[in-house]
Amino acid sequence: MSNDQYSVAVPFYDLWHEDGHVPEIRELLPPLLKGVRGSVLEIGAGTGLITRVIAQATPGEIFAVEPALAMRSVLLSRLAEDPALRERVTVLACGAHDVDLDEPAEAIVMISVLYGFGRAERERLWPVLARQLEPGGLLLFNHRERALPGPGEMELMGSYRVGRHTYQVRGQVLEVSGETSRYRHLYQVTQDGVLISEDEVLGETHRPSTARLRAELEAAGFVPDDAPDGMQAWRRAG
Ligand SMILES: C[S@@+](CC[C@H](N)C(=O)[O-])C[C@H]1O[C@@H](n2cnc3c(N)ncnc32)[C@H](O)[C@@H]1O
Repeated sequence: MSNDQYSVAVPFYDLWHEDGHVPEIRELLPPLLKGVRGSVLEIGAGTGLITRVIAQATPGEIFAVEPALAMRSVLLSRLAEDPALRERVTVLACGAHDVDLDEPAEAIVMISVLYGFGRAERERLWPVLARQLEPGGLLLFNHRERALPGPGEMELMGSYRVGRHTYQVRGQVLEVSGETSRYRHLYQVTQDGVLISEDEVLGETHRPSTARLRAELEAAGFVPDDAPDGMQAWRRAG
């Protein structure tokens, strides 16, 4: 999973995702964290949109893993503006496979990160996460079983006014093979319809079936817990 793409995508990130998965996660995540009093490990904290949701829903420490410097920089700015959040959140500049907490967490939250991992990376990830959790600890992530769209034309995915400029994200599926899809994104800034800047990102997304995920998680010692549509909740076996 490459993080380089985020250096060009990060200026667009909050604009685009406030319009995407973030509002739904604000609804679905807090009830799942009810009763969590201990520390929470967040995998792929990004710019901190979900870190803030976790902090509002739980009273303990948060360990926010974020390997991409550009994303982490926005996260740190968010913490700098909120002294209470800054007190509780430790930012870890490593990838999920390298996380090694001093004490196990009561919960792990991983929002919109899963599909960045290919199958082999995912299979290596679950045992790492199990080791970071207390026995009975909770693993929460978002997932919906969905067929991957086939290759197609470039489409406008989001458009946002910022002062006199318009920030636009365009996307195109290039190729689909098994659970993996290759895509092309264009990040554009325009003024009065004139293109000021454009960056291209080529990437891959990996969309496993729910049955496949269940097999991987059970093999790593997790047992399923109740979760609403759109979320998965698993517990480390006690
Ligand atoms: C789509 S963003 C989601 C950010 C945040 N969770 C949210 O929902 O707004 C995916 C994030 O995962 C991070 N990421 C990429 N590879 C990672 C890895 N190996 N371990 C942990 N995080 C990773 C990226 O840098 C990026 O910030």
